[in-house]
Amino acid sequence: MRLSVIGCGYLGAVHAAAMASIGHEVVGIDVDERKVAALSKGEAPFFEPGLQEILTEGIASGRLSFTTDMSAAAGAKVHFVGVGTPQQAGGYAADLTYVDAAIDGLVPHLAPGDIVAGKSTVPVGTAERLAPRVSAAGATLVWNPEFLREGWAVQDTVDPDRLVAGVPSEDGAPTADGATAADVLREVYHPSIGKGTPFIVTDYATAELVKVSANAFLATKISFINAMAEIAEVTGADVTTLADAIGHDARIGRRFLGAGIGFGGGCLPKDIRAFSARAEELGRGESVAFLREIDAINLRRRDRAVDLVSTALGGALFKKNITVLGAAFKPHSDDIRDSPALDVAVRLHGLGAWVTITDPAAIENARRIHPQLNYVEDRDEALREADAVIVVTEWDEYRRQLTPEHAASLTRGRIVIDGRNCLDAAAWRAAGWTYHGMGRP
Ligand code: UGA
Repeated sequence: MRLSVIGCGYLGAVHAAAMASIGHEVVGIDVDERKVAALSKGEAPFFEPGLQEILTEGIASGRLSFTTDMSAAAGAKVHFVGVGTPQQAGGYAADLTYVDAAIDGLVPHLAPGDIVAGKSTVPVGTAERLAPRVSAAGATLVWNPEFLREGWAVQDTVDPDRLVAGVPSEDGAPTADGATAADVLREVYHPSIGKGTPFIVTDYATAELVKVSANAFLATKISFINAMAEIAEVTGADVTTLADAIGHDARIGRRFLGAGIGFGGGCLPKDIRAFSARAEELGRGESVAFLREIDAINLRRRDRAVDLVSTALGGALFKKNITVLGAAFKPHSDDIRDSPALDVAVRLHGLGAWVTITDPAAIENARRIHPQLNYVEDRDEALREADAVIVVTEWDEYRRQLTPEHAASLTRGRIVIDGRNCLDAAAWRAAGWTYHGMGRP
């Protein structure tokens, strides 16, 4: 099928390449000329495992192309909209400027019978508001939220755990070519549906809410365990053992019970805030008032990490060499949007420490936003002469490949703060280190 994808960021670029990889003919459209130039040459503009391969393959096959010209969307049957919905400057609500601009730019190029499939994360009610503009062109708007995780985005797109399509109430009726909008989406995703992936067809509001409530649930799970970490800290309990123990209950499950410096990234933080803001607009602010607490617990963990470093160094950070291992908001990504790792580094720097920061993928992005920090590509070089080391992104380079003995041969001090509870505490202690975890004795 011929498809267009409007917006070629972390979501759109992966979607375009993944759709080409399953046999569709795809044009990706973005206003950013540099991004389009890179993608057109088959170069992934950001770090995402597996993306490079499917991009190269898609371009070489002739099924995948990128352009800044919106008119290239003409002729596609389904137009995916995957532009960003960042947090508004000065508020909690989502900024829908890019979504509105994408729809307005796309409408003149639509043909009757086309499907516009919104993938961006939007406040409930957005699809209903946008639908008339799309139907005026004889096309149908569906909302088809995305659940991909950065670092696993290619796999999650090609082989998702569920597909959701929010369709207009009149979608029961087949279009001119005899297919409903849901049928067309089924055809787009036929390889994964054929493997048994659930395909849930619902109304706009439910589809929009599925997305934000899933992220709200995940954020709640993380903040729940981080709240337990706070209690563990005053009682001498170990939150990682606690998580293992409660995680054995299949109703609870161990995943997303990783206590540490908390969640960040371009999705969870801004999505829970936008959800709160939207609920308030709807007069139901109290229904999700707990999300404010989830956010507050999350942000407190960054303070706690900074306190741990400071206390471990005797209360004074001034002119202390601190090596920060990690900048990305999580491993297998170069994304530093709302990264707790980078935030902790910036705070330590603000308190007068000499901060050296390293990351296998995110240095370039981090340096652009926080040029004041000292970035070192090489992990061992970064560790040299450190008074204290803090692990803030659990890359394998730090949690598996760095032995406490090797680290000790490079640093000046023997203080390690495990901001992700990802190190083997016993092994580090045995090698002479003072180990501090998050919510661990
Ligand atoms: C998240 C969701 O997991 C995806 O399902 C969703 O599609 C995506 O947002 C989105 O809305 O686009 P992502 O932002 O890639 O995906 O990252 P996650 O894997 O959810 O991690 C988010 C943050 O939580 C990271 O900073 C991570 O370090 C932290 N985290 C995760 C914890 O602190 N503890 C955990 O146990 C798990």
